Amino acid sequence: MLRITLLAVLFSLAFCQTSPTRINEDGCPEVLSSSQCPRKDITFWLYTITNKDGVKFPSGNNTEDYEKFYSSLISRKLVVLIHGYGENVNNSKTNIIKEKLLEIQQANVLSMDYSSLAPRGCYIEAVKNSRVVGRCLAQFIDFLIHYIKVPRSNVHVIGFSLGAQIAGVAGHFVANKLKRITGLDPSKNLILTANNDTFRLDRSDAEYVDIISTDPFQRGIMDGGGHLTFYPNFGIYQPGCFNASENSNEISLCSHKRVTELYAESIVSLTPFYAYLCQSLQQYDSFRCVPDVLRLKTMGYFVEVGLEGSYFGSTNSQSPYARGFFGFLRSGIASAESS
Ligand SMILES: *[C@@H]1O[C@H](CO)[C@@H](O)[C@H](O)[C@H]1NC(C)=O
Ligand SMILES: *[C@@H]1O[C@H](CO)[C@@H](O)[C@H](O)[C@H]1NC(C)=O
Ligand SMILES: *[C@@H]1O[C@H](CO)[C@@H](O)[C@H](O)[C@H]1NC(C)=O
Ligand SMILES: *[C@@H]1O[C@H](CO)[C@@H](O)[C@H](O)[C@H]1NC(C)=O
Repeated sequence: MLRITLLAVLFSLAFCQTSPTRINEDGCPEVLSSSQCPRKDITFWLYTITNKDGVKFPSGNNTEDYEKFYSSLISRKLVVLIHGYGENVNNSKTNIIKEKLLEIQQANVLSMDYSSLAPRGCYIEAVKNSRVVGRCLAQFIDFLIHYIKVPRSNVHVIGFSLGAQIAGVAGHFVANKLKRITGLDPSKNLILTANNDTFRLDRSDAEYVDIISTDPFQRGIMDGGGHLTFYPNFGIYQPGCFNASENSNEISLCSHKRVTELYAESIVSLTPFYAYLCQSLQQYDSFRCVPDVLRLKTMGYFVEVGLEGSYFGSTNSQSPYARGFFGFLRSGIASAESS
Protein backbone atom coordinates (compact mmCIF):
# COMPACT_ATOMS: atom_id res chain seq x y z
CA MET A 1 0.00 0.00 0.00
CA LEU A 2 2.73 2.37 1.00
CA ARG A 3 4.58 1.51 -2.14
CA ILE A 4 1.54 2.27 -4.30
CA THR A 5 1.05 5.61 -2.58
CA LEU A 6 4.69 6.41 -3.04
CA LEU A 7 4.49 5.51 -6.71
CA ALA A 8 1.41 7.65 -7.10
CA VAL A 9 3.18 10.58 -5.47
CA LEU A 10 6.23 10.09 -7.63
CA PHE A 11 4.06 9.82 -10.72
CA SER A 12 2.11 12.95 -9.92
CA LEU A 13 5.33 14.80 -9.18
CA ALA A 14 6.73 13.76 -12.53
CA PHE A 15 3.47 14.65 -14.24
CA CYS A 16 3.24 17.99 -12.50
CA GLN A 17 6.69 18.92 -13.56
CA THR A 18 5.82 18.62 -17.21
CA SER A 19 2.22 19.86 -16.91
CA PRO A 20 1.81 22.11 -13.92
CA THR A 21 -1.89 22.81 -13.62
CA ARG A 22 -3.45 24.09 -10.48
CA ILE A 23 -7.14 24.01 -9.66
CA ASN A 24 -8.10 27.40 -8.29
CA GLU A 25 -10.71 28.26 -5.66
CA ASP A 26 -13.46 28.29 -8.31
CA GLY A 27 -12.57 24.74 -9.28
CA CYS A 28 -11.08 25.85 -12.57
CA PRO A 29 -7.81 24.69 -14.09
CA GLU A 30 -4.98 27.21 -14.37
CA VAL A 31 -1.85 26.42 -16.29
CA LEU A 32 1.41 28.14 -15.46
CA SER A 33 2.24 30.37 -18.37
CA SER A 34 5.84 29.17 -18.30
CA SER A 35 4.89 25.51 -18.64
CA GLN A 36 6.46 23.22 -21.22
CA CYS A 37 5.00 21.54 -24.28
CA PRO A 38 4.13 18.79 -25.17
CA ARG A 39 1.57 18.24 -22.40
CA LYS A 40 -0.55 15.21 -21.59
CA ASP A 41 -3.73 17.27 -21.39
CA ILE A 42 -3.38 18.54 -24.94
CA THR A 43 -3.88 15.70 -27.40
CA PHE A 44 -3.90 15.45 -31.18
CA TRP A 45 -6.14 13.21 -33.25
CA LEU A 46 -5.89 12.31 -36.91
CA TYR A 47 -8.91 11.58 -39.11
CA THR A 48 -8.52 10.27 -42.64
CA ILE A 49 -10.74 8.84 -45.34
CA THR A 50 -9.85 5.33 -44.24
CA ASN A 51 -10.06 6.12 -40.53
CA LYS A 52 -12.94 8.47 -39.93
CA ASP A 53 -13.15 7.59 -36.23
CA GLY A 54 -9.71 8.99 -35.66
CA VAL A 55 -6.51 7.85 -34.03
CA LYS A 56 -4.66 9.57 -31.26
CA PHE A 57 -1.14 10.69 -31.93
CA PRO A 58 1.53 9.42 -29.57
CA SER A 59 2.09 11.78 -26.69
CA GLY A 60 5.51 13.33 -26.86
CA ASN A 61 7.54 14.17 -29.89
CA ASN A 62 9.54 11.10 -30.76
CA THR A 63 9.79 10.97 -34.56
CA GLU A 64 9.90 7.15 -34.69
CA ASP A 65 6.45 6.94 -33.12
CA TYR A 66 5.13 8.86 -36.08
CA GLU A 67 6.31 6.56 -38.85
CA LYS A 68 2.98 4.86 -39.26
CA PHE A 69 1.24 8.22 -39.71
CA TYR A 70 3.67 9.47 -42.27
CA SER A 71 1.78 8.67 -45.46
CA SER A 72 -1.53 10.00 -44.09
CA LEU A 73 0.12 13.19 -43.01
CA ILE A 74 1.70 14.06 -46.30
CA SER A 75 -0.76 12.55 -48.79
CA ARG A 76 -3.07 15.54 -49.00
CA LYS A 77 -3.93 18.86 -47.41
CA LEU A 78 -3.92 18.84 -43.63
CA VAL A 79 -6.68 20.82 -41.95
CA VAL A 80 -5.98 21.48 -38.28
CA LEU A 81 -9.29 21.92 -36.44
CA ILE A 82 -9.47 23.61 -33.05
CA HIS A 83 -12.63 23.31 -31.01
CA GLY A 84 -14.08 26.08 -28.85
CA TYR A 85 -14.52 26.77 -25.16
CA GLY A 86 -16.53 24.11 -23.32
CA GLU A 87 -16.19 21.60 -26.15
CA ASN A 88 -13.98 18.60 -26.77
CA VAL A 89 -12.65 16.82 -29.80
CA ASN A 90 -15.66 14.46 -29.92
CA ASN A 91 -18.58 16.79 -29.33
CA SER A 92 -17.27 19.93 -31.04
CA LYS A 93 -19.54 21.77 -33.44
CA THR A 94 -16.54 21.85 -35.77
CA ASN A 95 -16.94 18.13 -36.41
CA ILE A 96 -19.40 18.70 -39.25
CA ILE A 97 -16.55 20.51 -41.02
CA LYS A 98 -14.37 17.45 -40.57
CA GLU A 99 -17.10 15.18 -41.96
CA LYS A 100 -17.56 17.30 -45.08
CA LEU A 101 -13.81 17.53 -45.74
CA LEU A 102 -13.48 13.77 -45.51
CA GLU A 103 -16.63 13.25 -47.56
CA ILE A 104 -15.23 15.05 -50.59
CA GLN A 105 -11.69 13.87 -49.84
CA GLN A 106 -10.42 17.41 -49.63
CA ALA A 107 -8.07 16.96 -46.74
CA ASN A 108 -7.04 14.89 -43.78
CA VAL A 109 -8.03 16.41 -40.49
CA LEU A 110 -6.00 16.83 -37.36
CA SER A 111 -7.95 17.89 -34.28
CA MET A 112 -6.50 19.21 -31.09
CA ASP A 113 -8.21 18.44 -27.77
CA TYR A 114 -7.63 20.83 -24.87
CA SER A 115 -11.00 20.28 -23.22
CA SER A 116 -9.70 19.82 -19.69
CA LEU A 117 -8.08 23.28 -19.88
CA ALA A 118 -11.24 25.03 -21.08
CA PRO A 119 -14.19 23.42 -19.31
CA ARG A 120 -17.61 25.04 -19.20
CA GLY A 121 -17.90 27.50 -16.31
CA CYS A 122 -14.24 28.52 -16.49
CA TYR A 123 -14.13 31.05 -19.29
CA ILE A 124 -11.57 33.40 -17.76
CA GLU A 125 -9.22 30.53 -16.99
CA ALA A 126 -9.80 29.06 -20.46
CA VAL A 127 -8.73 32.36 -22.01
CA LYS A 128 -5.63 32.46 -19.80
CA ASN A 129 -4.81 28.85 -20.61
CA SER A 130 -5.27 29.50 -24.31
CA ARG A 131 -1.86 31.17 -24.38
CA VAL A 132 -0.17 27.92 -23.43
CA VAL A 133 -2.50 25.83 -25.58
CA GLY A 134 -1.61 27.98 -28.58
CA ARG A 135 2.08 27.69 -27.85
CA CYS A 136 1.80 23.89 -27.63
CA LEU A 137 -0.10 23.82 -30.92
CA ALA A 138 2.69 25.85 -32.50
CA GLN A 139 5.26 23.42 -31.19
CA PHE A 140 3.32 20.46 -32.60
CA ILE A 141 2.91 22.09 -36.01
CA ASP A 142 6.62 22.90 -36.08
CA PHE A 143 7.37 19.30 -35.19
CA LEU A 144 5.19 18.04 -38.05
CA ILE A 145 6.74 20.43 -40.53
CA HIS A 146 10.38 20.10 -39.54
CA TYR A 147 10.64 16.47 -38.46
CA ILE A 148 7.78 14.67 -40.22
CA LYS A 149 8.20 16.87 -43.32
CA VAL A 150 4.58 17.84 -43.72
CA PRO A 151 4.74 20.55 -46.41
CA ARG A 152 4.03 23.90 -44.78
CA SER A 153 1.81 24.88 -47.70
CA ASN A 154 -0.48 21.90 -46.95
CA VAL A 155 -1.40 23.12 -43.50
CA HIS A 156 -4.61 25.11 -42.99
CA VAL A 157 -5.60 25.89 -39.41
CA ILE A 158 -9.31 26.40 -38.70
CA GLY A 159 -10.41 27.47 -35.23
CA PHE A 160 -13.88 28.07 -33.85
CA SER A 161 -14.58 30.60 -31.09
CA LEU A 162 -11.76 30.45 -28.52
CA GLY A 163 -10.15 27.96 -30.93
CA ALA A 164 -9.78 30.82 -33.43
CA GLN A 165 -7.85 32.89 -30.88
CA ILE A 166 -5.70 29.84 -30.11
CA ALA A 167 -4.98 29.49 -33.82
CA GLY A 168 -3.74 33.08 -33.66
CA VAL A 169 -1.43 32.33 -30.74
CA ALA A 170 -0.08 29.30 -32.61
CA GLY A 171 0.41 31.41 -35.73
CA HIS A 172 2.41 33.86 -33.66
CA PHE A 173 4.74 31.21 -32.24
CA VAL A 174 5.42 28.88 -35.20
CA ALA A 175 8.92 29.06 -36.64
CA ASN A 176 7.71 29.91 -40.16
CA LYS A 177 4.52 31.70 -40.99
CA LEU A 178 1.46 29.52 -41.61
CA LYS A 179 -0.20 29.75 -45.02
CA ARG A 180 -3.78 30.17 -43.88
CA ILE A 181 -5.77 30.50 -40.69
CA THR A 182 -9.55 30.61 -40.76
CA GLY A 183 -11.24 32.09 -37.71
CA LEU A 184 -14.84 30.99 -37.27
CA ASP A 185 -16.57 33.60 -35.11
CA PRO A 186 -13.48 34.29 -32.98
CA SER A 187 -14.44 34.63 -29.33
CA LYS A 188 -14.63 37.89 -27.45
CA ASN A 189 -11.32 39.07 -26.08
CA LEU A 190 -11.01 39.75 -22.39
CA ILE A 191 -8.94 42.59 -20.96
CA LEU A 192 -6.35 39.87 -20.54
CA THR A 193 -5.82 39.49 -24.28
CA ALA A 194 -7.44 42.57 -25.72
CA ASN A 195 -4.34 44.71 -26.03
CA ASN A 196 -1.83 42.14 -27.07
CA ASP A 197 -1.73 40.68 -30.57
CA THR A 198 0.35 37.78 -29.32
CA PHE A 199 -2.68 36.26 -27.65
CA ARG A 200 -5.37 36.70 -30.25
CA LEU A 201 -5.93 36.14 -33.92
CA ASP A 202 -4.83 38.94 -36.23
CA ARG A 203 -3.56 39.32 -39.77
CA SER A 204 0.07 38.90 -38.75
CA ASP A 205 -0.55 35.29 -37.67
CA ALA A 206 -0.56 33.75 -41.15
CA GLU A 207 0.02 34.69 -44.76
CA TYR A 208 -3.76 34.75 -45.10
CA VAL A 209 -6.28 35.11 -42.28
CA ASP A 210 -9.95 34.85 -43.21
CA ILE A 211 -12.73 35.30 -40.69
CA ILE A 212 -16.44 34.60 -40.66
CA SER A 213 -18.37 36.49 -38.04
CA THR A 214 -21.89 35.32 -37.14
CA ASP A 215 -22.32 36.74 -33.64
CA PRO A 216 -20.30 39.95 -33.66
CA PHE A 217 -22.17 41.62 -30.80
CA GLN A 218 -22.18 38.92 -28.14
CA ARG A 219 -19.93 35.86 -28.04
CA GLY A 220 -17.92 36.95 -31.06
CA ILE A 221 -16.16 40.17 -31.98
CA MET A 222 -16.89 42.89 -34.49
CA ASP A 223 -13.48 43.08 -36.07
CA GLY A 224 -11.85 39.67 -36.33
CA GLY A 225 -8.55 41.31 -37.26
CA GLY A 226 -7.94 39.23 -40.38
CA HIS A 227 -7.29 40.16 -43.99
CA LEU A 228 -10.90 39.39 -44.79
CA THR A 229 -14.10 39.17 -42.77
CA PHE A 230 -17.43 37.85 -43.98
CA TYR A 231 -20.49 39.01 -42.08
CA PRO A 232 -23.36 36.72 -43.07
CA ASN A 233 -26.70 38.31 -42.10
CA PHE A 234 -24.88 41.08 -40.24
CA GLY A 235 -26.90 41.88 -37.14
CA ILE A 236 -27.50 40.74 -33.61
CA TYR A 237 -28.67 37.24 -34.45
CA GLN A 238 -28.73 34.78 -37.33
CA PRO A 239 -32.02 34.05 -39.09
CA GLY A 240 -33.87 31.18 -37.45
CA CYS A 241 -32.11 31.74 -34.13
CA PHE A 242 -34.44 34.39 -32.78
CA ASN A 243 -37.51 32.15 -32.95
CA ALA A 244 -35.70 29.19 -31.51
CA SER A 245 -35.74 30.61 -28.01
CA GLU A 246 -36.71 33.60 -25.90
CA ASN A 247 -33.50 33.36 -23.96
CA SER A 248 -30.97 35.86 -25.29
CA ASN A 249 -28.08 33.65 -24.24
CA GLU A 250 -29.42 30.80 -26.37
CA ILE A 251 -30.06 33.12 -29.29
CA SER A 252 -26.45 34.23 -29.13
CA LEU A 253 -25.20 30.66 -28.84
CA CYS A 254 -27.28 29.63 -31.84
CA SER A 255 -25.82 32.52 -33.88
CA HIS A 256 -22.30 31.72 -32.72
CA LYS A 257 -22.52 28.03 -33.62
CA ARG A 258 -24.19 28.78 -36.94
CA VAL A 259 -20.79 29.66 -38.38
CA THR A 260 -19.70 26.01 -38.26
CA GLU A 261 -22.80 24.94 -40.20
CA LEU A 262 -22.27 27.63 -42.84
CA TYR A 263 -18.61 26.72 -43.23
CA ALA A 264 -19.34 22.98 -43.46
CA GLU A 265 -21.96 23.63 -46.11
CA SER A 266 -19.55 25.78 -48.09
CA ILE A 267 -17.29 22.75 -48.53
CA VAL A 268 -19.88 20.65 -50.34
CA SER A 269 -22.49 23.09 -51.61
CA LEU A 270 -22.93 23.65 -55.32
CA THR A 271 -24.87 26.79 -54.48
CA PRO A 272 -22.46 29.54 -53.47
CA PHE A 273 -22.73 31.84 -50.46
CA TYR A 274 -22.43 35.16 -52.26
CA ALA A 275 -21.23 38.30 -50.55
CA TYR A 276 -20.28 41.81 -51.61
CA LEU A 277 -17.61 44.24 -50.53
CA CYS A 278 -18.34 47.20 -48.33
CA GLN A 279 -15.47 49.44 -47.24
CA SER A 280 -16.48 49.44 -43.63
CA LEU A 281 -19.10 48.41 -41.14
CA GLN A 282 -20.08 52.05 -40.73
CA GLN A 283 -20.80 52.36 -44.44
CA TYR A 284 -22.76 49.15 -44.36
CA ASP A 285 -24.75 50.29 -41.37
CA SER A 286 -25.71 53.55 -42.99
CA PHE A 287 -26.83 51.82 -46.23
CA ARG A 288 -24.06 53.43 -48.22
CA CYS A 289 -22.95 50.19 -49.87
CA VAL A 290 -24.59 49.15 -53.08
CA PRO A 291 -23.87 45.52 -53.91
CA ASP A 292 -21.87 45.21 -57.09
CA VAL A 293 -23.42 42.06 -58.54
CA LEU A 294 -20.60 41.69 -61.02
CA ARG A 295 -18.06 41.38 -58.21
CA LEU A 296 -19.71 38.98 -55.84
CA LYS A 297 -17.36 36.79 -53.86
CA THR A 298 -17.85 33.38 -52.35
CA MET A 299 -17.75 32.89 -48.62
CA GLY A 300 -16.31 29.81 -46.97
CA TYR A 301 -13.72 27.14 -47.46
CA PHE A 302 -13.17 27.96 -51.14
CA VAL A 303 -12.65 31.68 -50.60
CA GLU A 304 -10.44 33.44 -53.12
CA VAL A 305 -7.22 33.43 -51.09
CA GLY A 306 -5.74 36.92 -51.02
CA LEU A 307 -9.08 38.73 -51.08
CA GLU A 308 -9.27 41.51 -48.47
CA GLY A 309 -11.96 43.62 -46.83
CA SER A 310 -15.38 43.31 -45.23
CA TYR A 311 -17.98 41.30 -47.13
CA PHE A 312 -21.70 41.06 -46.51
CA GLY A 313 -24.35 38.64 -47.63
CA SER A 314 -27.39 36.73 -46.48
CA THR A 315 -28.29 33.10 -45.90
CA ASN A 316 -31.42 31.06 -45.37
CA SER A 317 -32.60 30.43 -41.83
CA GLN A 318 -32.01 26.70 -42.06
CA SER A 319 -30.00 24.20 -44.04
CA PRO A 320 -29.34 24.51 -46.94
CA TYR A 321 -28.19 27.98 -45.97
CA ALA A 322 -26.65 29.14 -49.25
CA ARG A 323 -28.94 31.17 -51.49
CA GLY A 324 -26.98 31.39 -54.72
CA PHE A 325 -27.23 34.21 -57.21
CA PHE A 326 -31.01 34.51 -57.43
CA GLY A 327 -31.34 34.33 -53.68
CA PHE A 328 -28.80 37.11 -53.49
CA LEU A 329 -30.81 39.28 -55.89
CA ARG A 330 -34.03 38.61 -53.98
CA SER A 331 -32.48 39.51 -50.63
CA GLY A 332 -30.94 42.65 -52.16
CA ILE A 333 -34.36 43.77 -53.42
CA ALA A 334 -35.97 42.97 -50.06
CA SER A 335 -33.46 45.02 -48.10
CA ALA A 336 -33.67 47.91 -50.58
CA GLU A 337 -37.46 47.94 -50.16
CA SER A 338 -37.29 47.87 -46.40
CA SER A 339 -34.76 50.68 -46.12
C1 LIG B 1 10.46 17.68 -27.83
O1 LIG B 1 10.05 18.23 -26.59
C2 LIG B 1 11.11 18.68 -25.78
C3 LIG B 1 10.55 19.06 -24.44
O2 LIG B 1 9.61 20.06 -24.51
C4 LIG B 1 11.81 19.83 -26.50
O3 LIG B 1 12.90 20.31 -25.71
C5 LIG B 1 12.33 19.34 -27.84
O4 LIG B 1 12.89 20.40 -28.55
C6 LIG B 1 11.20 18.72 -28.66
N1 LIG B 1 11.75 18.09 -29.83
C7 LIG B 1 11.18 18.22 -31.04
C8 LIG B 1 11.79 17.36 -32.09
O5 LIG B 1 10.26 18.97 -31.27
C1 LIG C 1 -12.95 11.07 -27.76
O1 LIG C 1 -13.22 9.77 -28.26
C2 LIG C 1 -12.14 8.84 -28.16
C3 LIG C 1 -12.60 7.54 -28.79
O2 LIG C 1 -12.89 7.73 -30.11
C4 LIG C 1 -11.75 8.66 -26.72
O3 LIG C 1 -10.66 7.80 -26.63
C5 LIG C 1 -11.40 10.00 -26.11
O4 LIG C 1 -11.11 9.87 -24.75
C6 LIG C 1 -12.53 11.00 -26.29
N1 LIG C 1 -12.10 12.31 -25.82
C7 LIG C 1 -12.85 13.07 -25.03
C8 LIG C 1 -12.23 14.32 -24.55
O5 LIG C 1 -13.98 12.77 -24.68
C1 LIG D 1 2.45 41.02 -25.29
O1 LIG D 1 2.85 39.90 -24.52
C2 LIG D 1 4.18 39.49 -24.74
C3 LIG D 1 4.44 38.20 -24.00
O2 LIG D 1 4.02 38.28 -22.67
C4 LIG D 1 5.12 40.61 -24.29
O3 LIG D 1 6.47 40.24 -24.54
C5 LIG D 1 4.78 41.87 -25.09
O4 LIG D 1 5.56 42.94 -24.62
C6 LIG D 1 3.29 42.23 -24.95
N1 LIG D 1 2.98 43.33 -25.85
C7 LIG D 1 2.25 44.36 -25.46
C8 LIG D 1 1.97 45.39 -26.52
O5 LIG D 1 1.81 44.49 -24.33
C1 LIG E 1 -40.10 32.67 -37.01
O1 LIG E 1 -41.12 33.64 -36.81
C2 LIG E 1 -41.65 34.17 -38.01
C3 LIG E 1 -42.61 35.31 -37.64
O2 LIG E 1 -43.40 35.00 -36.54
C4 LIG E 1 -42.32 33.04 -38.79
O3 LIG E 1 -42.83 33.52 -40.00
C5 LIG E 1 -41.27 31.96 -39.09
O4 LIG E 1 -41.86 30.86 -39.73
C6 LIG E 1 -40.63 31.47 -37.80
N1 LIG E 1 -39.53 30.57 -38.11
C7 LIG E 1 -39.27 29.44 -37.45
C8 LIG E 1 -38.06 28.68 -37.88
O5 LIG E 1 -39.98 29.06 -36.53
